Amino acid sequence: MSIAKILSEGPRFIFVGGKGGVGKTIIAAAIALYSSKNNQKTLLASLNPVHSLTNLFKKDLTSGKIQKISKDYELYAVEVDISDVVDKYRENVSTRLREFLKWAEIPLDPTPFIDIATTNPAFQESAMFDKVMDMILIEGKNFDRIVFDTAAVANAIRLLSLSNIYGLWLKKMIESRKEALGLRAQLSFRKDEVMKEIQKDPVMNDLIQLNEKFSKVKDILTNPSYTRFFFVTLLQALPISVVIRFMNSVKSYNIPVGGVIVNQIITRSDMEKDESNYLKAKYEEQLHYFEQLKKNVGVENIVGHVRQFSHDIIGLDDLELVVKDLLEFKIG
Ligand SMILES: Nc1ncnc2c1ncn2[C@@H]1O[C@H](COP(=O)(O)OP(=O)(O)OP(=O)(O)O)[C@@H](O)[C@H]1O
Ligand SMILES: [Mg+2]
Repeated sequence: MSIAKILSEGPRFIFVGGKGGVGKTIIAAAIALYSSKNNQKTLLASLNPVHSLTNLFKKDLTSGKIQKISKDYELYAVEVDISDVVDKYRENVSTRLREFLKWAEIPLDPTPFIDIATTNPAFQESAMFDKVMDMILIEGKNFDRIVFDTAAVANAIRLLSLSNIYGLWLKKMIESRKEALGLRAQLSFRKDEVMKEIQKDPVMNDLIQLNEKFSKVKDILTNPSYTRFFFVTLLQALPISVVIRFMNSVKSYNIPVGGVIVNQIITRSDMEKDESNYLKAKYEEQLHYFEQLKKNVGVENIVGHVRQFSHDIIGLDDLELVVKDLLEFKIG
């Protein structure tokens, strides 16, 4: 299967993952550029806490706002900023905690508890997941395609596992909230009033809304007409083993796999031009690793090959070279 064929099937949401430094950002950007050249209004979204799109496009994207990248095509980019979600969470936690302490008549300053709850890494990741959900549901309507450049593999896997935990957690929260509210109604002498209060319970409403949002996103993420996950690897032992593990976990979350893209390939002609024999040894080594990759992921899942260029990839002209390789180049 070729990447052009997969993209022609029209998946709206593309995720690109892989080990740190293997070329996720440039491959995601090339897929986005290719899509926009095919008349699809495309958004490239970086989910990496250490963003690099500003560097890649030589354009200041640090505001966290969506900006147009190309004057010729409908290509947009954004470095996703989670600080607004984190602030919103913080405010929520803080209000709920204060309400609870007041209700339970506990005279305590909640600030240290709020700090503990909102500065741990899981909190930041869950904020990122929230942001991805919003982008899928909101920006998914404004764009024909969104290409997500995911952070290095560990973060992305946690993002995926969060999607499962989130669902279970929400179900549990809704059940226990219902129980707690039911108990309050039973114990109260003013049942009618309490029932009215229950119906406008803000916590319950938040949970129900979140649950609805989550199940919509889950349907999208597990549907091959909407979503594909691509993996980038180098022909080296570690990145390959990362891809194999990563691919299995993506599959276990029922997220459709687009395929594997092999980056930084030494071409035969580069190897032949090299007089030092260094590239010859490297070339042999990469053929060995290519066999290993094929054996482990299946040759049909290797959907793109990109050569090692003699310079870093910066700007749209360089990305055009990457797109060309993705469409035409093959190792060998
Ligand atoms: N095929 C290639 N030829 C030449 N340079 C490349 C190639 N692929 C990637 N690079 C360069 O390697 C560096 C890393 O690439 P990139 O930023 O896309 O990796 P990444 O996987 O997104 O990294 P991170 O995990 O840090 O986000 C960049 O400087 C990029 O220009
Ligand atoms: Mg990157």
